[in-house]
Amino acid sequence: MATATEQAETIGHDWVQVGPASSLAATGRMHTCLQGRYVSVLKVKGQLTCIDSICFHAGGPLSLGDIEEVNGKTCLNCPWHNYKIDAFTGEKYYQSVTWQDGKMLPGEWKSNGPRHRIHQVESRPDGMIYVRLDSTPGEMPSDGYAFDAACGQRVLGTPNTAAGQAGATAGADGKRTATPGWLLSRLG
Ligand code: FES
Repeated sequence: MATATEQAETIGHDWVQVGPASSLAATGRMHTCLQGRYVSVLKVKGQLTCIDSICFHAGGPLSLGDIEEVNGKTCLNCPWHNYKIDAFTGEKYYQSVTWQDGKMLPGEWKSNGPRHRIHQVESRPDGMIYVRLDSTPGEMPSDGYAFDAACGQRVLGTPNTAAGQAGATAGADGKRTATPGWLLSRLG
């Protein structure tokens, strides 16, 4: 049986229509499953990117995470263990520490290198979004969970609304908790 990386290398040569660009309006995100691989299109500051939806670390719903600026990079913050993944390059960032007078202090942000596949994405004049899956040879850590249906359903099964995403990402170990009423009221 082919490994996930072997699967990744043998698919994705064609552009596939994934949905209307208008569906990015509510959250700036569109989640889909292409040839068994769970990917998410994000629109951040007017720019499109497409990244593997499921966190390489432990299968968390990375693409439902908050978007944060980390050292000038646009990152998804995985809701399970707060790994920071660059939404445009797939690199993982971590904050180093330094010691001063016996105290541990936060140091500079550093890259662990690419951990997630980034796929080609286009918005075309027909009003639709198209994706071509990355099939670059070689292992990428996100291949490990990319085809995992249970993990993928956490992303696809979440309403594509701000309230729905907030409700699905609470909980650090995959256990969803209900969105508090005060938060729902703010999310509208
Ligand atoms: S599952 Fe994403 S940081 Fe652990």
